[in-house]
Amino acid sequence: MKKVITYGTFDLIHRGHINILKRAKELGDYLIVAVSSDEFNELKGKKSYYTFEERKYILESIKYVDQVIKEDNWEQKISDVTKYNADVFVMGDDWKDKFDFLKEYCEVVYLTRTENISTTKIKNDLKNV
Ligand code: CTP
Repeated sequence: MKKVITYGTFDLIHRGHINILKRAKELGDYLIVAVSSDEFNELKGKKSYYTFEERKYILESIKYVDQVIKEDNWEQKISDVTKYNADVFVMGDDWKDKFDFLKEYCEVVYLTRTENISTTKIKNDLKNV
């Protein structure tokens, strides 16, 4: 079984998220999504609308997602890839080249971001509603 792993905050799920999850799943048979914890977001200076548990609950209901795990820090990627036997690591191309150090452990794929949508854009647009 080919396992794929991807990372993100996945707050206020939008079509860009669905597009990347769908394409990530197509690269293998089993998709693991590592979701940033609320504490890790705080460390990054981010605050999500939904809590970690809510974001996990929503992601688990998406048909492309087989398993959701927690991302607590920047350093855990190598140990996750090893622990979960991931064959492919996927991220949007806003992260292009950033995770090439994982090529020693698995295939690394950067997928094209969906244009004109992001959680930040939704939050900003809603200020004008
Ligand atoms: N992503 C994508 N297309 C978009 C938005 C996100 O492919 N339009 C991908 C990212 O590249 C990443 C994953 O979805 O691999 C999770 O991204 P995340 O940062 O949670 O979503 P954003 O909408 O980019 O959130 P923010 O605006 O807070 O950065």
